Amino acid sequence: MQSKQDQLEKLNQKMLACVKCSLRKNCIQVVPGAGAAKARIMFIGEAPGKKEDETGVPFVGAAGKFLDEMLEIIKLKRKDIYIANICKCRPPENRDPLPIEVATCWPWLLAQIKIIQPKLIITLGKHSMERFLPGFKISQVHGKAMRREIEDMGKQVFYTLYHPAAALYNGSMRKTLIKDFKQIPRIIAKIENEK
Ligand code: URA
Repeated sequence: MQSKQDQLEKLNQKMLACVKCSLRKNCIQVVPGAGAAKARIMFIGEAPGKKEDETGVPFVGAAGKFLDEMLEIIKLKRKDIYIANICKCRPPENRDPLPIEVATCWPWLLAQIKIIQPKLIITLGKHSMERFLPGFKISQVHGKAMRREIEDMGKQVFYTLYHPAAALYNGSMRKTLIKDFKQIPRIIAKIENEK
C-alpha cells in the first residue's frame, strides 16, 4: 500500500498533464494543491488567481496572506492542513468558473479527498460551498458545521466560510470570517471526540 504522500504525488503528475477543459489553454500552469497528505483539515477554494497561476501554489496572493494570518490565530501552519481548489486552472481574468469547468475538474478533487480523507472539509466561498452543499445560501450556513452524504464520497463533515478575498476589504464580512475561523479548533475537537 502506497503512502498518502506517494498517492498524492502520482495524482498530481496526472493533474499537471490535464487538458480536459479550455481553462488550460489560457493559464500558465495547473495548480493541484498543497499541504500535508495526512491533514485532518482540507480547505477548498474556488480557483487559482494570477499569483497562484504564476507559482503553481494555491492561495499565495493577498487572500492567501489573509488565510495565513487566520491560520496563525488558531495555531495552524500550512504544513498541518491541505489546500486545494474546485478548479485547478485559473479562469481568464479571474472570472467565476463555469459549471462545466467545475464538473470537468471534479474527479481530480474527489481523488484528492479520497486519498487525504480529511476529518473536516472547509469550503472557502460560494462556489466551493455550492459544489458540496447545493441549495444553501452562504449567508445562512457560514460558521455552521454540517455532516452530509455526498455521492461517491460518503459521509463528510463540512464547514463553510466566506472567501478570504471577498472578506479582505469588507469590514463586517472580515469580522464574521475571523469569528467563524476561530471556531475551527472546537469543531475538529468535537469530530475527534465523537469517534
Ligand atoms: N482564491 C482561490 O479561491 N483559490 C486560490 O488558490 C487563490 C485565490
